[in-house]
Amino acid sequence: MRERTRGSALSVLTPCPPLRNAERGDEGGASSEQRVSQRQLGVRVLVTGAGGMLGTAVQAAVPSTVQLVALRHADLAVEDAQAVERAVARERAEWIVNCAGYTQVDRAEAEPDAAERVNARGPANLARAARDTGARLLHISTDYVFDGRAARPYREDDPVGPLNVYGRTKLAGEQAVRDILPQTHLIVRTQWLFGEGGPNFVATILRLARERSELQVVNDQHGRPTYAPDLAAALWKLIACDARGTVHCANEGAATWFDVAKAAIEIAGLHTTVVPCSTADMPRPARRPQFSVLDCTRYAACTDSSLRGWRDAMNAYVPRLDVM
Ligand SMILES: NC(=O)c1ccc[n+]([C@@H]2O[C@H](COP(=O)([O-])OP(=O)(O)OC[C@H]3O[C@@H](n4cnc5c(N)ncnc54)[C@H](OP(=O)(O)O)[C@@H]3O)[C@@H](O)[C@H]2O)c1
Repeated sequence: MRERTRGSALSVLTPCPPLRNAERGDEGGASSEQRVSQRQLGVRVLVTGAGGMLGTAVQAAVPSTVQLVALRHADLAVEDAQAVERAVARERAEWIVNCAGYTQVDRAEAEPDAAERVNARGPANLARAARDTGARLLHISTDYVFDGRAARPYREDDPVGPLNVYGRTKLAGEQAVRDILPQTHLIVRTQWLFGEGGPNFVATILRLARERSELQVVNDQHGRPTYAPDLAAALWKLIACDARGTVHCANEGAATWFDVAKAAIEIAGLHTTVVPCSTADMPRPARRPQFSVLDCTRYAACTDSSLRGWRDAMNAYVPRLDVM
């Protein structure tokens, strides 16, 4: 377990507008708590799954005077209900940020029980512990709860329809959190993460680009590449404005994996040729949505801000890798 404390208070800067009636009508009007006050808060926050890509970024972006308790998988396995109960009671956190996840989308097809334990049972345990202690829960979910057949970016209350085990278990986790904390949950759906602290598509592509002169990359899946540190900063903003319900959050601009690969290779100054191909050319165990671009309007309304464009974020990330 690692605990970090920083100096001054978490600033609450921008008004959080009334939340739209999302999912099941339990997020209707804005309460006074949904509006941001100008005062500053000191908050104790427990992060689970702290050793992963997003967990690492959440720790790095911690605002001053937030007392952070960072629990890695080895410190707390979220599917262990008693351990979760003990940890949440012991830490007396005002917020729990659940960055733990079974994130191997293809492997989940062969290990549905393992994925279910982490992605569904884990958040349910955390939600119960939050309910019992009065803590707030911020749970991270995914664009893969959608079936990818939309003709426009997905809004928070659009119908879900996961195509794979990973998406189904993540959706079950969302539903458990909503059922247990109908008024106070915060579920942030994001997509296509890249960043330090974990394997990701950009790092993999750049490793392969150093080894090969040509790479084939899928060009018919559309999403928003999202830089984990940008998302982490956004999560702290959502906590600061006491957001509730479901919120989509990703870097600006849509892309295909082909676009992402080309941009990464170009920024890294490599000369590997990137050849577009279709999903059908590269069969994988798990089906993916063809179009899962998230509409982040609600995040913008909540925080009065948006994340920078994904290419700008990649310009910041790629030079930090040791492929340059
Ligand atoms: N990566 C993406 O593109 C993406 C897209 C959309 C949403 N998300 C969501 O974002 C969240 C963070 O993902 P990430 O990209 O940071 O993934 P990650 O790098 O794989 O991190 C997940 C972390 O969860 C930990 N973990 C696994 N099983 C656990 C358990 N039973 N109890 C406690 N911790 C456990 C892992 O530890 P070990 O490695 O030690 O097992 C790892 O540190 C997840 O909820 C994921 O579903 C990710």
